[in-house]
Amino acid sequence: MSASLLPPPVPALFPAPEERRRVEDALTVELIEVLGRLQAGPATPTIDIASFRVELQTHDFSRVRPLDEVLRWTIERLEHGLVQMANPRYFGLFNPGANFPAQCADRIAGLFNPQLASSASSPVPVELENHVIRALGRRAGLPEPIAGHFATGGSEANYTALLCALTRAHPRFAAEGVRAFAGPVKFYTSRECHIAWLKIAHQAGVGREALRLVPTDGRGRLDPIALQRLVNEDRAAGAVPVMIAATAGTTGGGMIDPLAACAKIAATESLWYHVDAAWGGAALASNRLRPLLAGIERADSITIDAHKWFATTMGCAMFITTHGSLLSEAFHCSTSFMPSSLAGLDPYLNSVQWSRRFMGLRLFLALEVAGWQGLGSHVERGVMVIERIKERLVAAGWHVANDSALAVLDVEPPPALGDVRALVKRVVASGRAWVAPTNFEGRDVVRICATNGETSEADIEELVAVLNGR
Ligand SMILES: Cc1ncc(COP(=O)(O)O)c(C=O)c1O
Repeated sequence: MSASLLPPPVPALFPAPEERRRVEDALTVELIEVLGRLQAGPATPTIDIASFRVELQTHDFSRVRPLDEVLRWTIERLEHGLVQMANPRYFGLFNPGANFPAQCADRIAGLFNPQLASSASSPVPVELENHVIRALGRRAGLPEPIAGHFATGGSEANYTALLCALTRAHPRFAAEGVRAFAGPVKFYTSRECHIAWLKIAHQAGVGREALRLVPTDGRGRLDPIALQRLVNEDRAAGAVPVMIAATAGTTGGGMIDPLAACAKIAATESLWYHVDAAWGGAALASNRLRPLLAGIERADSITIDAHKWFATTMGCAMFITTHGSLLSEAFHCSTSFMPSSLAGLDPYLNSVQWSRRFMGLRLFLALEVAGWQGLGSHVERGVMVIERIKERLVAAGWHVANDSALAVLDVEPPPALGDVRALVKRVVASGRAWVAPTNFEGRDVVRICATNGETSEADIEELVAVLNGR
């Protein structure tokens, strides 16, 4: 055999198997210890970010360091440099402490690094993701055939819904964009919706004024009478309504819009019916909570973020629809370099993304090991955590502003504890817990959400104590 004319692979990037094992084994041990510290330590960052910026200036990539050292340095900085989702006293913004099967999935996906754009490149991953999407769709009660895909987030999945609605609303939308419509496009969500809808309107080219924020009923849920009135007014003014997007689990108050009433209006008005169940969709896993989402089975499409209440690692949303052919219509294109071009199957022909990470494995593994029952128990546990907090705060004179049956509590402190924003600032600065200030139906409230699957009675006590200024 002749000597290789090629230089050896760059060892820092592609180390030998023994070296990989040594580093990975050490990393595994280290991460378990870190998790213990994160759970016991402060929920909020303690790093001085100005000093960190100065420190970063010395990392100009002219000097190299061993991987062990860089990993240690990175973990140490992260340990002090972010709001810790892994901390069981993080009662935060739907960001979960990640479940372990999902973390394993990321490790596996990192090794294989499959390209999920094409079914020819990744036949097994594509089938596996479709299997999970269909299972969620069936759990929601959607009629067959069920289609869809994993997305980077709820925002991408909701954007996909609007593109489907527009594509169905006018046969010339694909070719001409909004110029195809006889008047300005409108779509409807409640004013308690996730406000990324504004960006979605912008990026879809329909303009931010296309978004109609429907008044709520005083309890954080879309008012269907107001919805019907807005649709009528818009039509009378020459506008073109295309979609109703109800929210199942609002970001601020965990409220569920009247899903069946919205479905009825969408059907009568021939509008696309989308349910943004980014967070609340997880209730489908629980037999006890599932009836709260009645009406979701009438949706044309649904958003569910596994990286919220199903506690996978970040960036694991789902877009689920009964109109697979419309996805193919909205995202079709053709090129000779791709290894496959199957309209109903290849993710790059059915979704916003082209190159695509193997996201669905995270939920697949979690479902395989915990089942619907295990995920349902996890979701119900979150509701119980909130019930326990509610009892204690009410006993201490707090007032509950929302009546969500899910795991978000919006509360107003007794006057002696002062203004909400100052109170939340004090709690967060203490590091003992993390909560958010928000506005619910015009009132300033402290928003408390059960996001961590390992929150204990002691964590609840600690939260209640710090909220009460003890
Ligand atoms: C109801 C709802 N929809 C959509 C989103 C956006 O999801 P993502 O942050 O995954 O893009 C959120 C985020 O919190 C949400 O609460």
